[in-house]
Amino acid sequence: MPIPLLDLTRVDPEFERELEEAVLQVLRSGRYILGPEVDALEAELAEYIGAKQVIGLSSGTDALLAALMALNIGPGDAVAVPVYTFFATAGTVSRLGAKPVFVDVEPRYKCMDPAKLAAALEQHGNIKAIMPVHLYGAGADMDAIMQLAESKGIPVVEDAAQAIGTKIKGRSAGTMGVAGCFSTFPSKNLGGIGDGGFLSCMDDAFATKIRQMRNHGQTGSYEHAFVGGNFRIDALQAAGLRVKLRRIEQMTEARRANADRYRELFAAKGLDEVEVPADQDRHCYHQYLIHLPRAKRDALLGALREQQIGCAVYYPIPLHLQPCYADLKHSTGDFPIAEDAALRNLALPIYPELRADEQETVVKAIAAAL
Ligand SMILES: Cc1ncc(COP(=O)(O)O)c(C=O)c1O
Repeated sequence: MPIPLLDLTRVDPEFERELEEAVLQVLRSGRYILGPEVDALEAELAEYIGAKQVIGLSSGTDALLAALMALNIGPGDAVAVPVYTFFATAGTVSRLGAKPVFVDVEPRYKCMDPAKLAAALEQHGNIKAIMPVHLYGAGADMDAIMQLAESKGIPVVEDAAQAIGTKIKGRSAGTMGVAGCFSTFPSKNLGGIGDGGFLSCMDDAFATKIRQMRNHGQTGSYEHAFVGGNFRIDALQAAGLRVKLRRIEQMTEARRANADRYRELFAAKGLDEVEVPADQDRHCYHQYLIHLPRAKRDALLGALREQQIGCAVYYPIPLHLQPCYADLKHSTGDFPIAEDAALRNLALPIYPELRADEQETVVKAIAAAL
């Protein structure tokens, strides 16, 4: 039997029933964009992550974009981003005419390395925002990053797209910077039934600005004090997400239990050459990535795929080597930790509904292939 990397069809019947009912209610309500479902979702999310305000948005990408627009980032500005992340983190900077300044990641969790950030801040006087990413659901070193940012008066926008449920020293990812940007893309831990996202913040004035930003900067009746965009979330998404949010803790704990089981299985097989991710204060395990000797990763990827075991490389090309950033004139060797991770990592199935026997099959297949 194939073991997919992610299987969104494995849902319990009660969840399915609640989801269908929620969707039908929206269909019959005639309120399809923003409205009471979105208001309720925002309040529930704010409570869940411990933010003062949450604003529902059209995607995680648009959450990053809206945050940077609210900070007036534009041509001539630079934004510090980790060189190893999903493309949107840097893409939003470039779309505003600003320049991403890449920062290498630390070797343990592959999040922005504060020491390298300090060096980038010394080198680039025009950095106007810092965007750490809580990659795979691991928390970035927010103490060190916030300290550096505060010493220079630079706002921090947390890319928490992969980190709902992640805790860093007891605080939720996305609640430490000026804004936390989350994605509810279907594959995310809190995944919707289409594109969606939200932004969390602790400042009422910033929240108001984002609410206006998602509606073309509208500040009065067809009056626009600034230029925003259409970053609104659909009621259908909100209704679906509310059903899932009721189960997010249970699902996060299931992911964490699966991660523990993988660690035990790897240890029992004596697979010392496989580096398994260390647990953290509270990793939400959006992804579970192992790291292998360079020469073995691609062969293992092929072997697992042949046996219909889902796996993937997140991400094969660090941002500085992306063709669209050739003008930044970086080359191989500039960001060694990210480059090494790109050649050695492999994501394994970790979703809450994954069965113990399937995990055993995955680890057995890895042991046989190595
Ligand atoms: C780290 C990171 N940032 C930003 C995004 C963008 O989110 P979305 O796909 O909802 O636009 C994603 C997810 O795809 C992501 O993983």
